[in-house]
Amino acid sequence: MANITVVGKTLRVAVAGTGFIGAVHAHAARRAGARVVGVAASSPESAEEAAKALRAERAFPGAEALVTADDVDVAHICTPNHLHAPLARAALAAGKHVVCEKPLAVNADAARGLVEAATASGLIATVPFVYRFYPLVREARARLAAGAIGTVRLVHGSYLQDWLATEDDDNWRVDPERGGESRAFADIGSHWCDLVEFVTGDPLAAVCADVVTAVPERVSDAGAHAFDQPHVARADGTRRTVTTEDISVVLFRTRAGVTGSLVVSQVSPGRKNHLQFEIAGAEATLCFDQENPESLWVGRRSASELVVRDPAHLSPAAGAYAVLPPGHPQGYQDCFDAFVADTYRAIRSGGAAGVDGLPTFADGARAADITDAVLRSARRRGWEEIPVGRHS
Ligand SMILES: NC(=O)c1ccc[n+]([C@@H]2O[C@H](COP(=O)([O-])OP(=O)(O)OC[C@H]3O[C@@H](n4cnc5c(N)ncnc54)[C@H](O)[C@@H]3O)[C@@H](O)[C@H]2O)c1
Repeated sequence: MANITVVGKTLRVAVAGTGFIGAVHAHAARRAGARVVGVAASSPESAEEAAKALRAERAFPGAEALVTADDVDVAHICTPNHLHAPLARAALAAGKHVVCEKPLAVNADAARGLVEAATASGLIATVPFVYRFYPLVREARARLAAGAIGTVRLVHGSYLQDWLATEDDDNWRVDPERGGESRAFADIGSHWCDLVEFVTGDPLAAVCADVVTAVPERVSDAGAHAFDQPHVARADGTRRTVTTEDISVVLFRTRAGVTGSLVVSQVSPGRKNHLQFEIAGAEATLCFDQENPESLWVGRRSASELVVRDPAHLSPAAGAYAVLPPGHPQGYQDCFDAFVADTYRAIRSGGAAGVDGLPTFADGARAADITDAVLRSARRRGWEEIPVGRHS
């Protein structure tokens, strides 16, 4: 077992993968007081460029050399999905704490193997389900735990994007070899399920899903990055057949017997990053919209209210994540900063147990189990159970 306590020293961080989210990780790491000692990208040349752009101390020629390097304490894995499991495994074996992007692995068995490796190592291993870190998400969770909306009767919502809406849009996520068999659900549906389970404390028990590939062919563009818009034509005109889903529609039942539904799409024009959930209890309804994260709608028969992010009027659990005064908007990067700061706090204090709501590899494996159940259900055209308690 590795020595996981790193008291009083500046953490040395590696960032493997320097696209959209690698830059967000590098910023959050620095904000939390760490040194970004190295980066790696898809080629030595792009690593050199990224090291300059992200102000990293060194560029590494390859990701494995980076995440196992002697002068690294924490490996952040921000590459395409198929590299998550091998890099996380290599980093843990080298005694590094790991922050690994979702999906933790491209199938549930590989994800479970990583949970076992992380547990055996005693190292901190987290997954950026960062929407948990909005103060008003914590407020919704605290209100539900306190019984403020009464018995929950219905949970529903959506996660909608448009950046893959046309056949000219491409990304490595579309390719099952690099993205995994599930695309829209594994990529963003997994975030919604993690968030709703976190808020309600009531895990999904079974799903009945339909998945649709709405854009059956795409013009290949290997160089495309996430959210590239407007599309820059770098493609050679080659078309390829798409096998991963653009849309997933999921009915579910929770372990407490609550019914619900989720619509996931990466082809909904006008929707950029529309993650929204609504939880209806006997007394009140809570609704949260990730694109307007500074308020929480509390619906009631008599009169509804909009709760704003003002620590003076929030629960302590929510107020702890308000880093700016009310009326000075916080957003996505603040969630990431909070998640990374909490991960480092767990590293410094020698364990994740004392850090409330920190998403770990067990949560990443849970998301992989749900994704597998969604794909099985869609194939069989019927209800599928989600395995219980395999990761706790
Ligand atoms: N937690 C979140 O909110 C969130 C948000 C966006 C993306 N993600 C996850 O982050 C990961 C990256 O997504 P992205 O949107 O940043 O993609 P991206 O395409 O913008 O970036 C991918 C990066 O990986 C690099 N890369 C490719 N092959 C590599 C290799 N062999 N070794 C090292 N680096 C390599 C590329 O050079 C690029 O810098 C995905 O797994 C995605 O699911 C998570």
